[in-house]
Amino acid sequence: MNPFTPTFGMVPPYLAGRQSLITSMRRAFQNGPGDPNLSSVLVGPRGSGKTALLSCIGDEAMKEGWLVADTVAADNMLDDILQRTQVVGRELLKNNEKKQLTGIGVGQMVSLTWESDQAETKNWRTKMSALLNELNKTQTGLLITVDEVRADIPEMIQLASMYQLFIREHAKIALVMAGLPVNINQLISHKEVSFLRRARQHYVGRIADRDIRSAFRKTIESAGKRIEDDALSLAVEAAGGFAYMMQLVGYAVWEESGEKELIDTPAAKQGIEEAKEDFKRGVLDSTWRELSKGDKKILEAMLKDQEYSTVTDIAKRIGKTPGYVSTYKTRLLMAGVIEELEGAVFTIAIPSFREYIKNQSL
Ligand SMILES: Nc1ncnc2c1ncn2[C@@H]1O[C@H](COP(=O)(O)OP(=O)(O)OP(=O)(O)O)[C@@H](O)[C@H]1O
Ligand SMILES: [Mg+2]
Repeated sequence: MNPFTPTFGMVPPYLAGRQSLITSMRRAFQNGPGDPNLSSVLVGPRGSGKTALLSCIGDEAMKEGWLVADTVAADNMLDDILQRTQVVGRELLKNNEKKQLTGIGVGQMVSLTWESDQAETKNWRTKMSALLNELNKTQTGLLITVDEVRADIPEMIQLASMYQLFIREHAKIALVMAGLPVNINQLISHKEVSFLRRARQHYVGRIADRDIRSAFRKTIESAGKRIEDDALSLAVEAAGGFAYMMQLVGYAVWEESGEKELIDTPAAKQGIEEAKEDFKRGVLDSTWRELSKGDKKILEAMLKDQEYSTVTDIAKRIGKTPGYVSTYKTRLLMAGVIEELEGAVFTIAIPSFREYIKNQSL
């Protein structure tokens, strides 16, 4: 069976890179309240692997004994979180009870209050506080994950402000959110939740080639095939450090090798061509369509640079002020199309988008 997962939201069998972030999150769950990573934001362009990372962080939390309530920013998300917490909490209590078969164990008492404290008349915060109190009795933490963060959802803002209150009440709680740069930025600049600016921001960006390489190899070998070194190098290059592209390439290359146990260079080349075509249709075409004329003009002007561009150069090139270019640069950064590096230089963040832009005419 093909082990690659070129589907959004799917956790791959081997995560390329991201190890240091996962390790710091694991430590945060071990350390408990006070660890700054317990309030974290994952920011990155489409397909960079935010959702997969959220799942892995959730797994780490569970391994450290935390309960996890996963949700997506949407109307009714608060109720969703409450219900998820009740469901996973009930499981935990059941397991606790099994451990305490003699007399009325703590677990049993806990479960009684657990059910009776949930009267409908109470508001969300009260109900949630009650649950957190119960969890606190067994030192159990609660991780809330929010994917696809958007600031235009009132409950998103409510959740963030209430989270701050729970922290103040010393609850063992964590909030990890993920979203596109533009959406995260809107959320943290929202005046009602300005404390979120202090949340740890983790940029989910390009993955180093060596990490892609080892993830390719592990994924292939653990599923019963091998790959030639040259073929592997081609695949790594084609992935361009981009999580989604790695899965597309891996999937196609595996398919191309057919019944053969060894993935050789011809199979890799053929697979890579197909993956590029899929990537173009699935990512590049839609990204290009969503850009404004002004955005496109900046991107085209960037093509003259080998790799890195500066605001001053681009301004000169298109005959506009640096202020004008900066505005568009911010837009493109927020859309995840470009990324900024140290020294105020920026570059196109999506692999092969440069070549794609070359082939477009305004
Ligand atoms: N670290 C990784 N290594 C290898 N593949 C990954 C990694 N992270 C994610 N993937 C794969 O990349 C693809 C995109 O991942 P995911 O859906 O998590 O991205 P995303 O950032 O949440 O995208 P979106 O912004 O559209 O929600 C999926 O096919 C997933 O299996
Ligand atoms: Mg996602």
